[in-house]
Amino acid sequence: MANIDYSEKIPNNVRLSEDRTLQRALEQWQPNYLNWWSDMGPDGSQGFDVYLRTAVSVDPQGWAQFGHVKMPEYRWGIFLNPADPARKIHFGDHMGENVWQDVPGEYRANLRRIIVTQGDTEPASVEQQRHLGLTAPSLYDLRNLFQVNVEEGRHLWAMVYLLHKYFGRDGREEGAALLERRSGQQDNPRILQAFNEETPDWLSFFMFTYFTDRDGKFQLCALAESSFDPLARTTKFMLTEEAHHMFVGESGVSRVIQRTCQVMNELRTDDPAKLRAAGVIDLPTIQRYLNFHFSVTIDLFGADQSSNAATFYSTGLKGRYEEGKRADDHMLKHDSYKVLQVRGDALVEQEVPMLNALNEVLRDDYIKDSVGGVERWNKVIEKAGIAFRLKVPHKAFHRSIGTLADVKVAPDGRVVSEAEWNAKINDWLPSQSDRAFVASLMGRVVEPGRFANWIAPPVMGINRQPADFEYVRFN
Ligand SMILES: [Fe+2]
Ligand SMILES: [Fe+2]
Repeated sequence: MANIDYSEKIPNNVRLSEDRTLQRALEQWQPNYLNWWSDMGPDGSQGFDVYLRTAVSVDPQGWAQFGHVKMPEYRWGIFLNPADPARKIHFGDHMGENVWQDVPGEYRANLRRIIVTQGDTEPASVEQQRHLGLTAPSLYDLRNLFQVNVEEGRHLWAMVYLLHKYFGRDGREEGAALLERRSGQQDNPRILQAFNEETPDWLSFFMFTYFTDRDGKFQLCALAESSFDPLARTTKFMLTEEAHHMFVGESGVSRVIQRTCQVMNELRTDDPAKLRAAGVIDLPTIQRYLNFHFSVTIDLFGADQSSNAATFYSTGLKGRYEEGKRADDHMLKHDSYKVLQVRGDALVEQEVPMLNALNEVLRDDYIKDSVGGVERWNKVIEKAGIAFRLKVPHKAFHRSIGTLADVKVAPDGRVVSEAEWNAKINDWLPSQSDRAFVASLMGRVVEPGRFANWIAPPVMGINRQPADFEYVRFN
């Protein structure tokens, strides 16, 4: 079960060859996927040999294999964690019943929507990142970008498999539409707004993989609890791959900070103008990027009060983060949760029924998790003997979804006037000139072992390769 059949056109561990209809449908989707990859995948990279990991098993011990591959020849496939025949539904109205191996008719529309929404983010991020290879700060970073890209492609496969296998013709239509929407396109955009934003430079990329891929982690964790067992099993394996994406983000930002601090100490200055002249990214600019990516990402969890969230939970479609570890009744009908409300010019907490606040619960879990890495970034600054500290903004800052979308809030949580917001916006979010400056640093560094001036080398190579390893061969 754990081993993946690589002799087939579509590598899989779901005995695809035993279901000819499904196999044929997916084999028809496959060339469309490859066309999408060639149109919207990493720019100009088709012929490169990239040192990638490929899943060869879903066994947590040794699931991946490393080697140079041309990306269009990457073995995208369908990998689910093994089924547990004794698994029971462990939350919501169906608690205690057997998990579903098929889609219950009454939940079909909601499950389809959940799977499509998750699936849509995967190709979206590849589209958002498609030009970054042209300005990679090193071969190591270029390889990491491509690794993230091929795995997001695989996550799309994971969702399309579910759509094809369990949703018939509707599922096949959704599978086709996933290759048709385009990030940032006006008439046919990706479903969620953060996936229509640009990822124009590598600082944005690292922030995106730290913050936005972590949203992915929390959504996948919630889906890994699902009563629809194939969804739970596929998202569990996706989480194994996802960890690397967040590592790329956390270590990437950390290396930018490390390099900036080094130059701050060499020049004995914290003057952004002087640091910029020396070709590194000043810490206040890093803070503004952080503010942007954090606030855009926490919108992804949806409205603070949502009857859909309540329905998804009660019907057993989507659990909470670490549902199994929580010591409550897993029904939540009599519980409440605090959400923020605007009253006059202040934010006040209000108790609302927990079931309706489950988006907020997941958002708060996410916030706790994302603060951890920011503290590790601060350790780098502290170690350099510099007083500056990074901070995630208040969760009401720069929001576009839910109650908080109606109010202007400073990063410190003060409700501010429109006038103050407009006067301070360039201190709080990256300005045109911040973005232009960061863009001006982006130049391609592809000599093995060399790194752009604005970022420190990593502590260790991928798969313990030496510093000057040729992660990408251009041919
Ligand atoms: Fe993903
Ligand atoms: Fe990811």
